[in-house]
Amino acid sequence: MTDLAALETELAARIDAAQNLEALEALRVETLGKKGRVTELMKTLGTIAPEERKARGAAFNVLKDAIAAKLDARKAALEGSALDARLAQETVDVTLPPRAREEGRIHPISQTIDELVAIFGEMGFAVAEGPDIESDDYNFTRLNIPPEHPARQAHDTFYLAGKPGESHVVLRTHTSPVQVRSMLGQKPPIRVIAPGRTYRSDSDATHSPNFHQIEGLIVDKSTHMGHLKGCLVDFVRAFFEIPDLRYRFRPSYFPFTEPSAEMDIACTRGNGELKLGVGDDWLEILGCGMVNPKVLSMCGIDPEEYQGFAFGMGIERVAMLKYGIPDLRTFYEADMRWLRHYGFAPADVPTLAGGLAR
Ligand code: PHE
Repeated sequence: MTDLAALETELAARIDAAQNLEALEALRVETLGKKGRVTELMKTLGTIAPEERKARGAAFNVLKDAIAAKLDARKAALEGSALDARLAQETVDVTLPPRAREEGRIHPISQTIDELVAIFGEMGFAVAEGPDIESDDYNFTRLNIPPEHPARQAHDTFYLAGKPGESHVVLRTHTSPVQVRSMLGQKPPIRVIAPGRTYRSDSDATHSPNFHQIEGLIVDKSTHMGHLKGCLVDFVRAFFEIPDLRYRFRPSYFPFTEPSAEMDIACTRGNGELKLGVGDDWLEILGCGMVNPKVLSMCGIDPEEYQGFAFGMGIERVAMLKYGIPDLRTFYEADMRWLRHYGFAPADVPTLAGGLAR
């Protein structure tokens, strides 16, 4: 009669000694396979005297289970070390700096948009978009700029030939039509920012026919002018990375906000240098105000129930101020020397925690 204890000891030792999954599989076949040693043992049960059969059968089962458990444990261990070996072999040092040789740079406009999205995203604004080619209705009329309104002249609009009978189509002169689209397209509470291209028929050292703006819009039941102020002060301080930056709000006029204001940041000019955040000079950086109740109604929102604020800002302008870029036109010249100087490394994704730039 086979000594089960001795057999178990022998098999256990060989299982422990198996160096890889193939060797272990061969052992499994040799012991528990169809013709395996333990399987063969089980088959002998029929030849055993009935009085002994029960005890013997139980003993065989204990052996079989013990071997199966041993095989499983060794298999798990071998798989673990196979994974460890692979991880060790394929290890990547994520702390290495990006390749220094890379040529491509992120354009300051893209970088600035990423920074703006990071800051306002942290405040809970979602990014909304609208088309560059916009209806006259969304670009002007529903923003409380009816056809005869003098504000239309100030916009130097590019009008596109429309189909007869349809309302005019324009290249959007500001990102404010995205306010209209957001209000028509979603129910309050609304909290969106809309960065994008804008167009005006104007071209000199400080104006480009194609430029970029970012719009902000909040509509809910309780947002008031104090929130507008807090939001924009937090924003300019985060963006310019000047925690105690001085600012002021001046009363202003926009047809789509009431009351309206413009925000200025303090600066000092001298010795051909511009220092932001301190001093007695002022730089205008954005327009803002409480959404005009007329605009809310024209966009399908009940002004008796809802209110909110909006703001709009030129992206080139804040980028020039932050990064000391003196001439607007250089943004669009695709000059590699300029881009190498003012551009950003692709791996430097701006975040509030990691730093906004460089
Ligand atoms: N759309 C305005 C502009 O282009 C800016 C603005 C947006 C002002 C939203 C107030 C509110 O000048």
